[in-house]
Amino acid sequence: MALLFRSSPESAARWQPHFARLMPELEVRVWPEVGDCAAIDYALVWQPEPGLLASLPNLKLIMNLGAGVDHLLADPTTPRHVPIVRLVDPYMTEAMSEYVALQVLRLHRRDLDYAAQQRDRVWWELDQKNAAERRVGILGFGVLGQDAGRKLQALGFDLAGWSRGAKAVPGVATYAGAAELPAFLGRSEILVCLLPLTRETEGILDRRLFSQLPRGAALVNAARGGHLVDADLLAALGTGQLSAAVLDAFRDEPLPPDHPFWSHPRIVVTPHIAALTNPPTAAPILLDNIRRLREGRPLENQVDPARGY
Ligand SMILES: NC(=O)c1ccc[n+]([C@@H]2O[C@H](COP(=O)([O-])OP(=O)(O)OC[C@H]3O[C@@H](n4cnc5c(N)ncnc54)[C@H](OP(=O)(O)O)[C@@H]3O)[C@@H](O)[C@H]2O)c1
Repeated sequence: MALLFRSSPESAARWQPHFARLMPELEVRVWPEVGDCAAIDYALVWQPEPGLLASLPNLKLIMNLGAGVDHLLADPTTPRHVPIVRLVDPYMTEAMSEYVALQVLRLHRRDLDYAAQQRDRVWWELDQKNAAERRVGILGFGVLGQDAGRKLQALGFDLAGWSRGAKAVPGVATYAGAAELPAFLGRSEILVCLLPLTRETEGILDRRLFSQLPRGAALVNAARGGHLVDADLLAALGTGQLSAAVLDAFRDEPLPPDHPFWSHPRIVVTPHIAALTNPPTAAPILLDNIRRLREGRPLENQVDPARGY
């Protein structure tokens, strides 16, 4: 029973003690030391090179080392008959909610304005609403969106969520599908993107979407860089249609040193750290799916390749 681990070389050393402790019978091979491809049963991967998974003829399960599987489905050679599971770890969900709460509070409490005032030694009170008067909208109301929503609700924000299918969540204004997107956007003073990157959501954060937000709205994108049309964000900040953006994910990562986002006074850049994988909590969750497969039980968090997430 062999598993191929494909992520950064440093990360293998962080995972291996957990695999050895929890499933000692599992032989873990760390890419590029693949050995006999036909002997690999399981693959645990983050952004594997195109074609790697297709080269494993007896693969039974593909496990993704993160929540978003866009990179796996973008590879046309990823075997479609092999189940793909994504990582859903409550530890990461809490981390994402901390990030979202932090950034929404910063935008709500005008932290960027006060930081600029401090740089200029300006002592000046700005207008301030209460959280109950601040309308926050979460694009993508799934595992991460709903948990972040609960925490924002606890802080008192006036919350809305947008998803593909209709949802009923107490105390939250819920919207679903393309038809209800304009009404959702029209009330979102702070917009948080927690969508998966799919054919439908690629480039969704564009000029058209920004124009439907209240003037001066702010954006938090903690999902994927492919959701955002970079030039449209810069244009919307330039006209004042948007007042600020906090970005954790980018089309090119690391963000190139000459990218205008780095130095824009109304953009906060973080290096894709909103919810990092955590081997001590994630390893038992991942290995549980191997046990499920072996025992013929249903897998947890299986991805639907046709849907794209
Ligand atoms: N920055 C980071 O560190 C980091 C860390 C972890 C994850 N992420 C990103 O966060 C994403 C979301 O993760 P998750 O675990 O919350 O995923 P999830 O549970 O699958 O939730 C996705 C949500 O998006 C909605 N959705 C998908 N396609 C849609 C569409 N075309 N129109 C409207 N709504 C749509 C889904 O609607 P339904 O509920 O109706 O299906 C669901 O509510 C991941 O895919 C990943 O890219 C980023």
